[in-house]
Amino acid sequence: MNTNKNMQDLYDLYNELDDLDSDGARPSNKRVSQKRESKKRETEAKLFIRAQEVSKEFKFTYKAARFEEWWLLDSLAAFHEHKWVSDVLRRVKGGKEASVYLCKPGVEVDASLLAAKVYRPRSLRNLKNDQQYRVGRVDLDADGSALWKEADLNAIAKRTRYGEEVRHQSWIAYEFVTMEALYEAGADVPKPYAKENNAILMEFIGDAGAAAPPLSHISLERDEVKQLFERVIRNLDIMLSKDRIHGDLSAYNILYWDGDIKLIDFPQVVIPESNPSSWGIFQRDVMRVCQYFSAQGVRTDARKLAADLWTAHGHHVFEKVHPKYLDPENPEDRKRWEREK
Ligand SMILES: Nc1ncnc2c1ncn2[C@@H]1O[C@H](COP(=O)(O)OP(=O)(O)O)[C@@H](O)[C@H]1O
Ligand SMILES: [Mg+2]
Repeated sequence: MNTNKNMQDLYDLYNELDDLDSDGARPSNKRVSQKRESKKRETEAKLFIRAQEVSKEFKFTYKAARFEEWWLLDSLAAFHEHKWVSDVLRRVKGGKEASVYLCKPGVEVDASLLAAKVYRPRSLRNLKNDQQYRVGRVDLDADGSALWKEADLNAIAKRTRYGEEVRHQSWIAYEFVTMEALYEAGADVPKPYAKENNAILMEFIGDAGAAAPPLSHISLERDEVKQLFERVIRNLDIMLSKDRIHGDLSAYNILYWDGDIKLIDFPQVVIPESNPSSWGIFQRDVMRVCQYFSAQGVRTDARKLAADLWTAHGHHVFEKVHPKYLDPENPEDRKRWEREK
């Protein structure tokens, strides 16, 4: 299995390659481009040798492009070693931050098909506006436990290269531990199986021929719309009972299969009590869900729904106002102060 040091070296190599590739688009003089070419070949050779080592043990059906294949070998080798994955069949979806692959389970997993969400090397540097979601979240290590070592915390704060990798680990760990907690609580999420440095292994939603489409890509039948809307609300409710807000919920992150739904894509989860923007983030999730369902013909009142769910879990819907701005002579202000104190 990869140690942290190995993984860091690896990220560096892939990022180097990424840089060399994207620099290639810029015009430059011949000498510079020759130098770049030879650097690129050197980096590729290192990765190639590494991939040769791994692929002695692990070969898969999916015909990936070269770098993608190397990255997959590195990201999924541990799943293969543990006999959780025996084959990678195809890529279901390629994204900027992560790609999802359909995998055949190994003997240690009792599932018919698996999905591996593999974060791309680039996602390490692109931790997209993660700041607003991270407020009030303790960072997690690769095993999902709270980070406590001063060196790790300092590295994150100072945004050193190592710190960025630790932060990236934490981002993925949040996705995995959230799926575990929600699955346990009976929410509609794919069953999570395992997490490695760079990838999450979970139940595949769909069948061998097709992956479940997100709600955003389909229209629902009239007789199922209402019941599925209620199902989503039930999931929002379970999430709040587990102190989690999805943070990026919309019809894009809800899969539909066989009359049923599954919520996906959790790295940015928000913890309500610890994040001052949580009420706004929660409202946005509810609003987006309601947009989809009202286009499908359900009557929705997003504001009321969000407020009802939020207050049912003991949270306040009002922006907190500092007491010094409240007038004790004004009955409205006084009520507010009573409520918020
Ligand atoms: N468990 C799964 N089963 C089937 N398809 C999945 C699964 N998880 C993700 N996908 C597919 O991969 C896409 C991207 O996954 P997601 O977790 O939303 O990552 P991203 O951050 O790229 O949006 C989804 O829209 C869906 O099409
Ligand atoms: Mg998504």
